[in-house]
Amino acid sequence: MGQIISYMWRWIRPKKKIEKPKNDDHQTNYQPINSVDEPENSHYIINISDHASSTAENVGNHDHDVDLVPSTTDIVVDLGSEYQEVVNKKKRKKKTKKPDQVDLFISKLVTEKSVATSTPSHVPSNVKKIGQYTSSQKILLVGEGDFSFSACLAMAFGNAANITATSLNSYAFLVTNYGSFIANWTELVNRGSMVLHDVNATNMSKHPVLGSMVFDRIIFNFPHAGRFGHSETELRAHQKLIRGFFRNAKKMIEKDGEIHITSKSNGFYLEWDIPKIGSDHNLCLIEEIKFRPSKYPGYNTKYGFGGDRDFDSNPSKTYKFGLSLK
Ligand SMILES: C[S@@+](CC[C@H](N)C(=O)[O-])C[C@H]1O[C@@H](n2cnc3c(N)ncnc32)[C@H](O)[C@@H]1O
Repeated sequence: MGQIISYMWRWIRPKKKIEKPKNDDHQTNYQPINSVDEPENSHYIINISDHASSTAENVGNHDHDVDLVPSTTDIVVDLGSEYQEVVNKKKRKKKTKKPDQVDLFISKLVTEKSVATSTPSHVPSNVKKIGQYTSSQKILLVGEGDFSFSACLAMAFGNAANITATSLNSYAFLVTNYGSFIANWTELVNRGSMVLHDVNATNMSKHPVLGSMVFDRIIFNFPHAGRFGHSETELRAHQKLIRGFFRNAKKMIEKDGEIHITSKSNGFYLEWDIPKIGSDHNLCLIEEIKFRPSKYPGYNTKYGFGGDRDFDSNPSKTYKFGLSLK
């Protein structure tokens, strides 16, 4: 009988109303459900271990990357269907969220990134590229050693009629001093390049053949006046060579062309101050980048001035100058 009465009392007793936590409750154990944007649920998790530090978390407040399953120290309180109805009503009233500053910033970043990484469609697929150079550029090389740099470009381009490669040294000097010269010369000539000798970079604009030509790139790799000391006298000799080169190259470059000097980027070589010599000639330093010989397979930097010794090109930089900034 007692069991029957107890059973009936559970059915007829007034139901306890579970109230939404009051605002100041979050000072102790609760945080209110702060937004109707959160996933539908009507549970609060009170973390026992957090009790002392007066924090509690709403399931819906969890970051979506965080596991939403309550831990063993959590008590899950069912707020009941009435509270859920209040939440649903709020949800129906919800306005469309306007993008805030952060949203706009992220969307701008995404747009810029997709522009920056997209492949330019204007580069024709038949243009060959090696290091800083392409087969679509008219290229003049001056002060070549064994011609291994120009031969490397020529091989990369296949057809190398866009290359004019020159040396200060005579053909006879090159044959005598450089073991690879004939092979490099043959590569160039077979691929349609023009090869000229006895070309002085400090008066080349008056050269009978070169004087009437205009280039997209004029390159002098590791210019050196052939004076091997680090005194003021040698410094002035190297600077004089660079000045003469700039003076002439300026007259032989396309309006949007570039004059490149690659030189060592340490010790005495920095005293040459190539950027300053460029600016003295009203040239704009477009950029200076680390030179990586490994990008030019087969290239042997030569000492010059007799013998087949290699020149230690590490560390070095390419200074790129233009008639104006692009
Ligand atoms: C350190 S070697 C570099 C050679 C070559 N560019 C290379 O990277 O292997 C310096 C070169 O500058 C050249 N040179 C010196 N004075 C020159 C000038 N007035 N005109 C053209 N070349 C010059 C020399 O003939 C020598 O080959």
